[in-house]
Amino acid sequence: MKGIILAGGAGSRLYPLTLVASKQLQPVYDKPMVYYPLTTLIEGGIRELCLISTPADLPRFKQLFGDGSRFGVSIEYREQPRPAGIAQAFLIADTFIGADNVTLILGDNIFYGDEDFHRSFVEFKSGATIFGYHVNDPERYGVVEFDADGRAISIEEKPKRPRSNYAVPGLYIYDNTIVNIAKNLLPSARGELEITDVNLAYLSRGRLRVNRLARGFAWLDAGTSSSLHDASAYVQTIETRQGIKIGCPEEAAFRNGFLSLARLESLIQNMPNCEYRDYLNEVVAEAKRV
Ligand code: G1P
Repeated sequence: MKGIILAGGAGSRLYPLTLVASKQLQPVYDKPMVYYPLTTLIEGGIRELCLISTPADLPRFKQLFGDGSRFGVSIEYREQPRPAGIAQAFLIADTFIGADNVTLILGDNIFYGDEDFHRSFVEFKSGATIFGYHVNDPERYGVVEFDADGRAISIEEKPKRPRSNYAVPGLYIYDNTIVNIAKNLLPSARGELEITDVNLAYLSRGRLRVNRLARGFAWLDAGTSSSLHDASAYVQTIETRQGIKIGCPEEAAFRNGFLSLARLESLIQNMPNCEYRDYLNEVVAEAKRV
């Protein structure tokens, strides 16, 4: 399974924050936003990654993540010259995807909770797996409708009259047919290659699985000033209460066996004195106790 992080877009809804740093580099409480989706992919056991961003922002992501070895993964970088839709990512990254399955995550989507969630990656075999999450404002998202047996029957992109309260989060798991599906997409009325059209293609072939995320699960998007603030507040609340970190890729890499204990210790030594370092030292100390 390959992984794509899509961190494009102008971030215009966060202006003027995004005048000098892209949306996905803004802080969500104590780390850059893009740390959270990176952690989700690592938790899903994905080691070969490609990050897609604008030509202007790509150098900053390279500065942040390098070749990925700090997190026990490899990261390639590709440019999205102009925002032409989420599904364009599969055309930009087709040589990276090769003959593999691929998961795409949006750089401003934060997932937290329920360990079972990761089974969706591990158990994936073919077709497409996406998620459904109950929200208050479905009209802002792709919306999935279910029949009485819980099977997905329709998906609409930002409908004026949503048929359900289930939004489709920005995390999509596809088999290799995605590359061909993406090649045959036509731009929508807003001139974009829509991810919803990809999901509809799988739905019409009877190959779409929609996993409903549990009530206690947190899916946050951080694309507007208030949702950015809410995401920070959420992360701070959980981290302070539980003494754990959300979205810590080094920890996820260590727990998944992507980084050895010795490697984690040497990485920590290169970090400045800060809470992040203290936390990782705790992770190491705990691992040595058991
Ligand atoms: C995009 C997708 C939408 C999805 C959302 C998740 O919306 O088009 O289907 O529900 O991401 O964050 P956008 O970020 O372009 O508003």
